[in-house]
Amino acid sequence: MTGDEGRVVLVVGGGGREHALTMSLTSSQSVSAVHVAPGNAGTAAIATNHPISASNIDGMLELALELAVDFVVVGPEAPLVAGLADRLRENGIACFGPDSENAMLEGSKIVAKQAMADLEVPTADYFVLQAGESLEEDIEEALDVFSGEPWVIKRDVLAGGKGVVVTENRNEATNFIKSSIETDGEVLVEAFLAGEEVSMLVIMDEHSAICLPPSQDHKRVGDGDSGPNTGGMGAYCPAPVVTPEINSRIMQRIVMPMHEGLSSQEIPYRGVLFIGLMIDAEGNPFVVEFNVRFGDPECQVTLPLIASDFGDMLYCAATGTLVEHEDEFNDLCSLTVVLASEGYPSTPIKGRMITGEGITSSGNSWISHAGTKLVDGELISNGGRVLSCTAIGGSLQEAAERAYSLIESLKLEGSHYRKDIGYRAL
Ligand code: AMP
Ligand code: GLY
Repeated sequence: MTGDEGRVVLVVGGGGREHALTMSLTSSQSVSAVHVAPGNAGTAAIATNHPISASNIDGMLELALELAVDFVVVGPEAPLVAGLADRLRENGIACFGPDSENAMLEGSKIVAKQAMADLEVPTADYFVLQAGESLEEDIEEALDVFSGEPWVIKRDVLAGGKGVVVTENRNEATNFIKSSIETDGEVLVEAFLAGEEVSMLVIMDEHSAICLPPSQDHKRVGDGDSGPNTGGMGAYCPAPVVTPEINSRIMQRIVMPMHEGLSSQEIPYRGVLFIGLMIDAEGNPFVVEFNVRFGDPECQVTLPLIASDFGDMLYCAATGTLVEHEDEFNDLCSLTVVLASEGYPSTPIKGRMITGEGITSSGNSWISHAGTKLVDGELISNGGRVLSCTAIGGSLQEAAERAYSLIESLKLEGSHYRKDIGYRAL
């Protein structure tokens, strides 16, 4: 800590995840001031927003220097891949979030696959397809090898959650392969993994790693996991699918080798590694994806379960002193339900007023703002995922009741939300 005064932190981003980060940071003893750029209506109410876009690397560096912050917490992946952490560190500013090279674990599926192969971390088998004379034959061969299950095709670029197609339709698979090669040069065809998905968030620096409680997202827009994929319609934590036995497999087979590999590099990994996992019917974990940031909405449900000083945890990871942080968790359960705009995920309608008594929520349930803004004192929708209602409880059932009672009290014309968040565990 910097004397009695506490540390000053800048949070980069403006979604539900960043509102959750800001809430936890403002309630950290070790933190005296929280700045957010660009932030949203939720962060404006509890911290200081600055109108700098998360993609403006120079602007963000300038702001961090001007505010003389003790550290920066980067919410989204794009600025990390673009080198924000590198620039901050070059200028003597501690950053929670990896450098651009490590960020390629999320920026490129092929880089992630190579890292897993080197470290013998279990993941799905795959082919890389590229343009060339034999492309037609290569496509047929890859689709034949993985036939009998849905085909999984992945673009090798940051696609904001829209880079993956899972389909049983061979034509659709072929078309997506071809269009991806046209725009990106190459594409992955991956074996389908059956099972239950779970998200592990691992806070790490080169000496230490802290696994946060596992959570589960709900990616499809509709109840019973129907309809198109979204950025995430709700989540809960902890996810009971991760039994102590499965947890120890995840640690042995995935977290420990990844941490060892990332720690032995010239520039070590300092930030959070989000491990998207598939747990098969025998309880074996496989990596589906890596992200180099907190999940959204996983962040909203995971942070309320951390009992130790969150600001200190992130500062220690950013400065390579995570061993000094004594982590502590509570025994609560949490659940969040996303309120989405009419038309989300394809064509969300923005600019509508949000009202309802739940707006001033507090205590055991609260609103995590995502796509919101204040216009003349009115709360207006400003994105596809508008906000999420998060609640804690002694049981998942209790958390679910509180979160649903909050979301039912809100009004936004045409909006929709899933009615079955947490159904696998309830
Ligand atoms: P990704 O961007 O890699 O996380 O993929 C998005 C979503 O596609 C994942 O959350 C899974 O639901 C699904 N998915 C990705 N890869 C696979 C796979 N190999 N088998 C089954 N589902 C997958
Ligand atoms: N909720 C999934 C993600 O943040 O990528």
